[in-house]
Amino acid sequence: MTDTASAETLKTAMAEAASEVDEALDALLPKEEGDERKLFAAMRYATMGGGKKMRAFLVLEGAKQFGVGRESALCVAAAVEMLHAYSLVHDDLPAMDDDDLRRGKPTVHKAWDEATAILVGDALQTQAFATLAAPETHQDPAVRADLCLALALASGARGMVGGQMLDMMAESATAPLEEAAIVRLQQLKTGRLIEFSAEAGAILGKAPAHSRQCLLYYGREIGAAFQIADDLLDLTATPEETGKATGKDAGAGKATLLGLLGPERARAQAERLVEQAKGHLESFDERADMLRALADHVIRRRN
Ligand code: IPE
Ligand code: IPE
Ligand code: MG
Ligand code: MG
Ligand code: MG
Repeated sequence: MTDTASAETLKTAMAEAASEVDEALDALLPKEEGDERKLFAAMRYATMGGGKKMRAFLVLEGAKQFGVGRESALCVAAAVEMLHAYSLVHDDLPAMDDDDLRRGKPTVHKAWDEATAILVGDALQTQAFATLAAPETHQDPAVRADLCLALALASGARGMVGGQMLDMMAESATAPLEEAAIVRLQQLKTGRLIEFSAEAGAILGKAPAHSRQCLLYYGREIGAAFQIADDLLDLTATPEETGKATGKDAGAGKATLLGLLGPERARAQAERLVEQAKGHLESFDERADMLRALADHVIRRRN
């Protein structure tokens, strides 16, 4: 397949997966009714009908490597997107990045209010774990516990939340962060959830430890490349392309590799990471071609 053909195939596959994941979210999230319907409506608004659903796609493609049932994989894909959406709703709050636009729509605290946005994040996070722990997700309770543990580690104090703390602290740091510190910050705030998404299919499929490790390493490299690309898009893309405000990171004092190395070296680093990511898939057959194409896509994307 040519690069262009595989890029087109990937685009179609991601769009199809996104609509399947929206259907799964629709079934899993509380319906907009009852006294708490404001909360339920905002949870749906934050998760459904927008976003690339890349983490979900990683779960689904990882699961394909091991013949995992589609329903199981979709539950985990939806759970990851709930966790991710929670992180975005809180990331956009005035106390954090203070953003008004997300996925081309007003952020949750703009469309409703800050208290609702905080509660939406809280509720999406717990719903993600409830979904992983539910019997429908996998018949084996040990697999469900493994998924819960891996997502908790990826998203908590030593994962995404820890990374978000470092990101906020860097804004007011007196000296710029060194490269190794930025790499660590980005691995935590963005990389860990992408690592989990990549390895989740191996957990579901009770894959050999080596295969699971390869997928996790693949996720680690694309996660790092993905955040460099996000930082480059903040500099070079428009809000029409990304669906969120751009041109804010430098002024906010965000610690990014782009800020430290400049666009050319940052892009070169992202390209190296993508090659390394594909290297981790060497022992996988052609069923992993979509994961290979996705690695190329994370740094070419315009949204
Ligand atoms: C944005 O993630 C937050 C980062 C970790 C950079 P995405 O770019 O995956 O956002 P959506 O889900 O497509 O909106
Ligand atoms: C967010 O990073 C990472 C999260 C854990 C949500 P950014 O703050 O750069 O993400 P965007 O640019 O707002 O999507
Ligand atoms: Mg942020
Ligand atoms: Mg942000
Ligand atoms: Mg950003």
